[in-house]
Amino acid sequence: MSSTPIAILSALAQEQHGLIDLLQSPAKCVHAGRDFWQGQLHGQPVVLALSKIGKVAAATTTTALIEKFDVGRIVFTGVAGGLGEGVQTGDVVVASDFMQHDLDASPLFARYEVPLYGQTRFANNPQLTALLFSAAGSALAALRAGNPYPRAKVHQGLVATGDRFVSGSSESAALRLALSGSGHDVLAIEMEGAAVAQVCHDYGVPFAAVRTISDRADDSAHVDFPAFVERVASRYARAIIEELLRLLSIK
Ligand code: ADE
Repeated sequence: MSSTPIAILSALAQEQHGLIDLLQSPAKCVHAGRDFWQGQLHGQPVVLALSKIGKVAAATTTTALIEKFDVGRIVFTGVAGGLGEGVQTGDVVVASDFMQHDLDASPLFARYEVPLYGQTRFANNPQLTALLFSAAGSALAALRAGNPYPRAKVHQGLVATGDRFVSGSSESAALRLALSGSGHDVLAIEMEGAAVAQVCHDYGVPFAAVRTISDRADDSAHVDFPAFVERVASRYARAIIEELLRLLSIK
């Protein structure tokens, strides 16, 4: 067992509730205006934190987790809008890599490229991502009986991040077209992952992320979102993280 803690990041408090309930020997520390919960889950030292919403907030939380709490790995669990064909509400996407769909420093740099990094996408840690994929599959199978989405699938692929909640069919269609036209076939969109991935890249900290699809980023996205987070996503997050920690403890 690794002695450095593993961080479990969520964007919203509702997504984190189920995880705090599971924490053994919980201790709360307030830092940079955020609550950090230290304790053990399945015998592993963990720190639970909220990224808050958007790229800047997520980068701050990630930096604090690494600099102050000395975490050795970071796992993000949250929700996303489905963009790829066949990625439906209730499905789960495990991110293989992240990019920023709203980053454009052209003509100085190629559209979507992160200036001075020479790259557009940041890859997640392959081993941790493979374990998370397996944990998501087992968790969905275990939850199937009471799940309003019994045919939910687990996907793995590219996720795009931007400082926008996309809630319009024409906007999401335009985004899909622009991204695929540049060779980026995106499965899902959200508002934090690429920032966490870039900070983890800078510090050399392994990162993996899982997102439950709460909406299709279409005209009804904002209607579906709050109820979904409360009723479905928090249950998924808890089951997936419990299974991941079980897998990590037997490795
Ligand atoms: N997170 C969940 N749904 C989203 C959407 N439609 N746009 C951006 N982030 C999201």
